[in-house]
Amino acid sequence: MKKLENKVIVITGAGMGLGLAAAKEAAKNGALLSLVDYNEKALNEAKQGLSEEYPEAKVITIAADVSKEAEVKKYVDETVKAFGRIDGFYNNAGIEGKQALMADYDLEVFRKVIDINLMGVFYGMRYIIPIMQQQQYGRIVNVASVGGIRGVMNQTPYVASKHAVSGMTKNAALEYGKHGIITNAIAPGAILTPMVAEAFRQVNPDDPKKAESEYAQFNPTKRLGLPEEVARVVIFLLSEDSSYVNGQTIAVDGGQSNAYGFV
Ligand SMILES: NC(=O)c1ccc[n+]([C@@H]2O[C@H](COP(=O)([O-])OP(=O)(O)OC[C@H]3O[C@@H](n4cnc5c(N)ncnc54)[C@H](O)[C@@H]3O)[C@@H](O)[C@H]2O)c1
Repeated sequence: MKKLENKVIVITGAGMGLGLAAAKEAAKNGALLSLVDYNEKALNEAKQGLSEEYPEAKVITIAADVSKEAEVKKYVDETVKAFGRIDGFYNNAGIEGKQALMADYDLEVFRKVIDINLMGVFYGMRYIIPIMQQQQYGRIVNVASVGGIRGVMNQTPYVASKHAVSGMTKNAALEYGKHGIITNAIAPGAILTPMVAEAFRQVNPDDPKKAESEYAQFNPTKRLGLPEEVARVVIFLLSEDSSYVNGQTIAVDGGQSNAYGFV
């Protein structure tokens, strides 16, 4: 039996990057998918690609901005209307913001990062938990970051928002474990997605590939991670197999966050 056979899984930020990689892995594992993103073009392309690769997969797409409460309610309502339940929630949509020192950080960008990464994750849980409570079953996987367990230079709002994700994950686990709802977070390191490619462009606009290989030298594995490597951890956490792992923030970073000094 496939790990997510007939499970209804909602994925936010599903248009590209980690969300899309998880959508593919979930389709491979038999899930019914509700894909959410505010980039409609990316969302349509994601659906098209998934249908070609997994013709038997049932997929709906919902254009919504996770930082707007009414749009979160909409994607939850539309998913329940289409599939009747929500078994798993990959609460993934997020942005990095711009790189700047704390005292110089643009306030508008700061608020935007908090609105999407913190409030968006909170709204998602706020509307999906009651449905999982009625079912007395659910799996929630929030996306933090190594920036949710460590400081990261020049990324104050990102680090603040991702620490908050890790904190909210602990609270959801404490408050709803008795209802069969298991909540965990992942803390990816640098994974090669469009978001990280943009960060390397900001670090070295003339030669982003150089910035990428310099960064990889600080990782015990001497390479960046791949979206599929994160997706396989997410599928485990969305499946029955994770039944006694609750409230954890699991680093998927090649071990880099354990280092003190050079490796
Ligand atoms: N890639 C990494 O190395 C890495 C590391 C740590 C954490 N993360 C986290 O993983 C998540 C996904 O990152 P990624 O690298 O795949 O990014 P990405 O930019 O490649 O993809 C993110 C997707 O989310 C969507 N999105 C962004 N804001 C949204 C909003 N307000 N409403 C709806 N959709 C929205 C985008 O349109 C995009 O399709 C983010 O939360 C990010 O912080 C990524």
